[in-house]
Amino acid sequence: MFGRAVTFALVGLEPRRVEVEAHLRSGQQPTFSIVGLADRACQEAKHRVRSGVHSALLPWPDMVITVNLAPAALRKEGTGFDLAIALTLLAASDEVPAKRLAEHACIGELGLDGRIRPVVGTIAAAEGAARAGFSRLLCASDSSREAALAGIEAVGVRHIAEAVGYLRGEDDIEPASPEQDTLPVDTRLPDLADVRGQERGRRALELAAAGSHNLLLAGPPGTGKTMLGRRLPSILPRLTQEEALEVTRIHSVSGTLRPGSGLLTTPPFRAPHHGASAAAVIGGGTVPRPGEVSLAHRGVLLLDELPEFPRSVLEALRQPLEDGVVSVARVGGRALFPARFRLVATAERYLRPGGGGAVRPDPGLVPRSGRGLARGVYA
Ligand SMILES: Nc1ncnc2c1ncn2[C@@H]1O[C@H](COP(=O)(O)OP(=O)(O)OP(=O)(O)O)[C@@H](O)[C@H]1O
Ligand SMILES: [Mg+2]
Repeated sequence: MFGRAVTFALVGLEPRRVEVEAHLRSGQQPTFSIVGLADRACQEAKHRVRSGVHSALLPWPDMVITVNLAPAALRKEGTGFDLAIALTLLAASDEVPAKRLAEHACIGELGLDGRIRPVVGTIAAAEGAARAGFSRLLCASDSSREAALAGIEAVGVRHIAEAVGYLRGEDDIEPASPEQDTLPVDTRLPDLADVRGQERGRRALELAAAGSHNLLLAGPPGTGKTMLGRRLPSILPRLTQEEALEVTRIHSVSGTLRPGSGLLTTPPFRAPHHGASAAAVIGGGTVPRPGEVSLAHRGVLLLDELPEFPRSVLEALRQPLEDGVVSVARVGGRALFPARFRLVATAERYLRPGGGGAVRPDPGLVPRSGRGLARGVYA
């Protein structure tokens, strides 16, 4: 007996089509194996799928089960294949109609109790499905709004039993509608309108916002450099539809998108600590993941206390600052991550160009009557 379903794996931000095939044959000893370069989390799908199917009160095929994830040369990592594996098995054992399953792409993680959880990169997978000609995607109901942004009919299901009922045609589920993110007002970023005085600092921020400039705020401790830097996103325009999709995709792949959220329409703000590794700031890992520079794409990257950052991190910032993109090459694959951000850095003193430590600010630039921050902030 044979079943098949389609899902999508991610290489960087790029979706790659993965065919899940299940073959069942009778044998003396029932077994369950997953082949096709599946990583550990993906191998563990066996336990989740078996428990999930039991929880949905569906019969488990006590046979020799082989699941293949094709193309076998592509590394499969993560838990997003669970739903496709479970449905392929159920199609192979005639529990769900194979023809109807073939009309859908599937993505989602299974819980032991059969519930379907959202996975990272759902919007990227949904875009892959839409490009591959699928009109419907089965996914966790918590990520259906996100998937719908890709222009596909996203059918959100909470439990494997619900997915089976839907595929059998017993229940009808309304596809989710793409919506903009409705972030509550209190979680919005600090506003420049709250700042009293600080005219030079505010003007520097306005010039940086209007002209897409990077900004170095230099001045003595306690003068409000951090406070001002955090407020740059509040005067940036909202993202265009295309930019918002780009930003939402990056945050979805890196897992920083809140469950149930829609399109991110405000410029992102990231402020990594100076203890962060180069891989965390620039992007990387065995399986390439976006770093802080990409999470700040179309928004603001604040490097507070710039001189405290290790030289390796500062040097690695050159490529994204110049090209607006990070390219990460690994054994596990090569990935390009967009990283076009405005850099805001703060420092106590000016840094001498070309290294060599700090120098005092040029006294000619210091306003004689200046107080507080105005004494040390220059665009
Ligand atoms: N004009 C202002 N209006 C309101 N609060 C201000 C103003 N200037 C400074 N502050 C407050 O002063 C405090 C110190 O500011 P902040 O931490 O931004 O300074 P800093 O220049 O980053 O100092 P450090 O170099 O020590 O990091 C903060 O609580 C900030 O909110
Ligand atoms: Mg500070």
